[in-house]
Amino acid sequence: MNIAIRRSQTSDINVCARINYEAFKGISDRHCFPHTDFLTLELAAEITQFWIESPLFFGIVAESDGVVVGCGFMDERNPIRGIGPVSVDRTFQGKGTGRQIMKALLERGQDAVGIRLVQESFNMPSLSLYSSVGFEVKEPLLLVEGKFRSQPLSGVEVRPMGSEDVGECQALCNRVYGCDRTNEMKDALNFFSPLVASKQGRIVAYTCAVSAFGHSVAETEADMQALLLGAAAYSPGEALCFHLPVRYASLFRWCLQEGLRGLKPLAVMAIGEYRQPSGCYFPSSVY
Ligand SMILES: CC(C)(COP(=O)(O)OP(=O)(O)OC[C@H]1O[C@@H](n2cnc3c(N)ncnc32)[C@H](O)[C@@H]1OP(=O)(O)O)[C@@H](O)C(=O)NCCC(=O)NCCS
Repeated sequence: MNIAIRRSQTSDINVCARINYEAFKGISDRHCFPHTDFLTLELAAEITQFWIESPLFFGIVAESDGVVVGCGFMDERNPIRGIGPVSVDRTFQGKGTGRQIMKALLERGQDAVGIRLVQESFNMPSLSLYSSVGFEVKEPLLLVEGKFRSQPLSGVEVRPMGSEDVGECQALCNRVYGCDRTNEMKDALNFFSPLVASKQGRIVAYTCAVSAFGHSVAETEADMQALLLGAAAYSPGEALCFHLPVRYASLFRWCLQEGLRGLKPLAVMAIGEYRQPSGCYFPSSVY
């Protein structure tokens, strides 16, 4: 099949949104997972528009005979790049398009210190494709969702993140995660409702968004619990949803006791620089 790769543009938003929506719904349906990353076509269009129009994201489309049959995006906000999503029209899957999209994204990111992504572990085509181009599984995850039973903890203040907190949050991110995500935090201040948890005036945890759209970092599992319960109090009645590294066994058990449920297994995969996080973190949909 003859595939041409080019940069995505505003006129591609609708077709890419449809491909993203249908491709992800297709793989979830085939495995009987109730959860899909793009809940509705409208949501897919909104997010796809952001990826295509933001100067800090690199977007490409794959064309066959002038028709867009796939797309891929790379988050370039941080020195460590993040790939995702990569989607191919359902009727074109398994014919080499995904490999060409990945090749183009890796070429674009070749000078970065590292590239990461979050892969759905049950998805054999993507696991095989990403592994074959060099990605290695680093962190098994579970997407969990639910409403917490407990009330916020005393002794820890959870409050909205302000622009003046970004430096302290980045210092925490460096200690725990070993990487720079400053631009992402600044973006979160514009698009989400990021929070920090502080003890005696010192920030011990933060979240860009308690969802797949943002990452969260904490010094300890206990600090992450305090952040989660505080975040829940900011969205009363709403279920929270996040990527939980399953090696945090006691935190996982606590989430289960709190009434959360697992939705699907995933994994962080990486190429290049990778340091095992030393505190507690929840990755976003890229890392
Ligand atoms: C994942 C996706 C982007 C891949 O695109 P694609 O065009 O179907 O993939 P390609 O045909 O280029 O490559 C798939 C590779 O996986 C291999 N593969 C597929 N199933 C496999 C399996 N069970 N075991 C081993 N290899 C497998 C194929 O043989 C192929 O490798 P090859 O090039 O060496 O033959 C596409 O299937 C898709 O859009 N899926 C739905 C959305 C999605 O899951 N996105 C990724 C999110 S994690």
